[in-house]
Amino acid sequence: MSTTYGTFPGSRPRRLRTNPAMRRMVAETRLHPADLILPAFVREGVQEPVPISAMPGVVQHTRDTLRKAAVEALEAGVSGIMLFGVPEDAKKDAAGTAGTDPDGILQVAIRDVKAEVGDELIIMSDLCLDEFTDHGHCGVLDASGRVDNDATLERYAEMAQVQADAGVHVVGPSGMMDGQVGVIRDALDQTGHEDVSVLAYTVKYASAFYGPFREAVGSSLQGDRKTYQQDSANSRESMRELALDLAEGADMVMVKPALPYLDILAKVAEAVDVPVAAYQISGEYAMVEAAAANGWIDRDRAIMETLTSIKRAGANMILTYWATEAARQL
Ligand code: PBG
Repeated sequence: MSTTYGTFPGSRPRRLRTNPAMRRMVAETRLHPADLILPAFVREGVQEPVPISAMPGVVQHTRDTLRKAAVEALEAGVSGIMLFGVPEDAKKDAAGTAGTDPDGILQVAIRDVKAEVGDELIIMSDLCLDEFTDHGHCGVLDASGRVDNDATLERYAEMAQVQADAGVHVVGPSGMMDGQVGVIRDALDQTGHEDVSVLAYTVKYASAFYGPFREAVGSSLQGDRKTYQQDSANSRESMRELALDLAEGADMVMVKPALPYLDILAKVAEAVDVPVAAYQISGEYAMVEAAAANGWIDRDRAIMETLTSIKRAGANMILTYWATEAARQL
């Protein structure tokens, strides 16, 4: 061929894709087990782990199996665990009091895991009321049934204290109330927990992909969370949430969900000088597992591709239900 088309045949990008060793050498993004954080559910009052049907392979742990899962994650090189408590149904009420009970399931789980792994694995806790309220909302309701922002902040301040008293390293406020990061920071500082950090769910969209999580925490939510979580049509709003959370003292920021919002993740990662996390949520997990179960996609490749894409977009840390499995493969 003698003709030149543009820069071809001088330019041949395929040379750098010739074989696995070459592709490995030029790879710009490398996953490491320490990038990964395992979200885990612990259910009060069960003797056996309870499978979550919409998340094949994920369970509601007993106190015992949660401890084992934490050790396995640690041994695989995972750097943290994010705990979600599932109280007995009878303990749910309008104010979510089980969430601030020092002997509530989440506080018990924090102490259990801390006793097992100490400071080797970073212990994080979901700081939100939805797992504990009988109406399933992330906050307390006013007389009209709307989530009451400022009354909820008082509950969050109490939650921060009891979770920190139980020994958590990082709290993860996920309720999307205005002012939550600042109030939680103050509550921690005023109760002698200056060293407990805040991983803010800074960007959190009202997403259909949280579906399986509702089963995972036995949520009774009617309706949706659109008056407090973000509209998927918006991008600028995320930068506003980011500025507010940083001003209020967030140590780390998170974008959630991950895959449908990689554009937002990239913008956030570009803009900040704090660590950035992304949460690959329940529906993202379920999608891949369901397609793989049908033989429609290669499960292992799909998992690694999604994780790599999330890291490439700018995440330093990835919360994923595949954390332990993926860490072992890396
Ligand atoms: C709120 C919370 C949710 C998730 C994490 N924290 C549910 C929601 O906001 O509706 C979702 C996680 C997932 O879907 O994997 N406590």
